[in-house]
Amino acid sequence: MHFAIVNGPNLNLLGEREPDIYGSRTFSDVLDELKSSFADVEISYFQSNVEGELVNIIQDLRKKCDGIILNAAAYSHTSIAIADAVAAVEIPVVGVHISNIYRREEERHTDLLAKYCTGYLFGLGIKGYELALRFLIDLNQEDR
Ligand code: DQA
Repeated sequence: MHFAIVNGPNLNLLGEREPDIYGSRTFSDVLDELKSSFADVEISYFQSNVEGELVNIIQDLRKKCDGIILNAAAYSHTSIAIADAVAAVEIPVVGVHISNIYRREEERHTDLLAKYCTGYLFGLGIKGYELALRFLIDLNQEDR
């Protein structure tokens, strides 16, 4: 089983960026922990601050892995291009927002990707990535 985590803009700053909202852990720490907890699963990681690069990454992954965990960050609220990329891929895509976007500013209340995602986790903190991964593993096993 091979899954990919794709993080969008400013998530490279996790650990230092607004820790009251996003926590104080770096994503590299989180990824190391996921890789050791799920040692029999291949986990690839991508991060980009650039909208078109995220489209390219999603397209590229569509034939290379069994599912994507996607936090498109601020682009979730604005990007029809990333929404189209999610709609185009046949593998499951689970959306994650670390924060509860519905308890935040109005402009974060719309998520253009949500209707194309298999499911979505928001407001569960950094733990959302692990829960999304567990879901994708279960889904993949059910499909076999
Ligand atoms: C975020 C929520 C977005 O509104 C914000 O722009 C982010 C992070 C989250 O994980 O909570 O960059 O996607």
